[in-house]
Amino acid sequence: MSDFDTVLVVDFGAQYAQLIARRVREAHVYSEIVPHGVSASEVAVRAPAGIILSGGPKSVHVPGAPVLDPEVFELGIPVLGICYGAQLVASQLGGRVAETGRGEYGRTVLERLGDSRLLGPGDDQTVWMSHGDSIVEVPAGFVATASTAEAPVAALESPARGIYGVQFHPEVVHTPRGQEVLEAFLRGVCGTRPSWTMTSIIESQVEKVRAQVGDERVICGLSGGVDSAVAAALVHKAIGAQLTCVYVDTGLMREGESDQVVETFRRHQGIELIHVRAAERFFERLAGVVDPEEKRKAIGERFIREFEGAAQGLSDARFLVQGTLYPDVIESGTPDAARIKSHHNVGGLPADLNFELVEPLRALFKDEVRRVGEELGLPPEIVWRQPFPGPGLGVRIIGEVTPERLDTLRHADAIVREEIQAAGLEREIWQAFAVLAADVRSVGVMGDERTYAAPIIIRAVTSDDAMTADWARLPYEVLEKLSNRIVNEVAGVNRVAYDITSKPPGTIEWE
Ligand code: XMP
Repeated sequence: MSDFDTVLVVDFGAQYAQLIARRVREAHVYSEIVPHGVSASEVAVRAPAGIILSGGPKSVHVPGAPVLDPEVFELGIPVLGICYGAQLVASQLGGRVAETGRGEYGRTVLERLGDSRLLGPGDDQTVWMSHGDSIVEVPAGFVATASTAEAPVAALESPARGIYGVQFHPEVVHTPRGQEVLEAFLRGVCGTRPSWTMTSIIESQVEKVRAQVGDERVICGLSGGVDSAVAAALVHKAIGAQLTCVYVDTGLMREGESDQVVETFRRHQGIELIHVRAAERFFERLAGVVDPEEKRKAIGERFIREFEGAAQGLSDARFLVQGTLYPDVIESGTPDAARIKSHHNVGGLPADLNFELVEPLRALFKDEVRRVGEELGLPPEIVWRQPFPGPGLGVRIIGEVTPERLDTLRHADAIVREEIQAAGLEREIWQAFAVLAADVRSVGVMGDERTYAAPIIIRAVTSDDAMTADWARLPYEVLEKLSNRIVNEVAGVNRVAYDITSKPPGTIEWE
């Protein structure tokens, strides 16, 4: 994004690159992740204000371990190497990295060896380490500015060349003064302005959307989720009445969700909204379908038909808004990415619909999308909504999906959401929901009556990105309340179980 100072984060293969990029943006500087194979000429074209080399899982001594194009160091653009990146600074510029066999993992005291533009006032500080090899000799023209018990060079710098390295991870929360270190680099060394703010993001996207679509009609599918909601609100700010939203009501949504979407967009945001009431057709298509992948396929296909049906009435529309986020863009640029996502696009639209895409969130991380949504006046229930799968409650009924079963599940799910919210846990839990094991029956007793009914399984997980997850340690009191309320209030349910499986080996959803 040319109107912002940019810092490039070169990805050496750890999960840290995204975190670094987010921290840079928290310092109000636009950042982009580039693969480690990036050439000096590619970097030069982007004219970044600074370059950060991320950590990586390899040792610089392993044959074929990734390196930076050496010409990048000659561009005169400030460089900060972090962890593996710092070792590259040392090894590629003539210092020495040794396989000492004495790594450091976790909290470590950083001892200062002298003045440093990067590390601020000269006290020792606690930092987070994760390395096996150690830098033992700095390149000519560099000084070591800190060490630790096991790392003789824990930070190095050449202010004259504008090249810096830290063995520790300033981007993680376990390095309390890490953000100060990053800001010292961004402001003090690179001289960036704090221009990446919510207001400027919105302004620049609004301009881009206007430039892209001119006075053409634009269509946007709303799923009820955060991304499509914020994308729609942003595009609406840019082009107002040229935007038409389509909401396909699959009948597989949570309680109150469809009303809320219609209310928010039509009434509050004043957006033209086509509300496709398709539940009956989805139920018909799902009759007798039990296999999870078949369900996904059935729901996905029906969804596309419904959307196309609505879009036909808007035959002048040439553009389609999509809530693609920055992590999707980075992932689709890496070889491993395709594998991870395949089924997660179910409930989305295929690429071959004949529209040109408008993707106003393409540069943003999820937390930025939420803040943009708040700034645009979307209600907190939408902005802070937990992820919800495209096939909706359809993949949370184990067995055939029927309207009656959906009513049961929807009721139990509403209780889970209410109690999680009442306990103030909503933002720290990635997803919390109910699953109906519809074909299972267990015996119970209520009053003097014997019952024989289905169980509800509660699933609540913590996660950063849904790739891995852990079951949430919900307080017993919350579990107790959930169990009591669900059995007492939801007809057809006589037992509640709590799922204590992490991912892997489990998945977050049950289907
Ligand atoms: P799993 O169950 O694979 O889920 O651990 C990871 C994340 O993806 C969501 N999910 C889906 N999202 N279409 C979607 O749009 C799908 O078919 C789908 N299946 C799972 C799930 O809710 C979790 O956030």
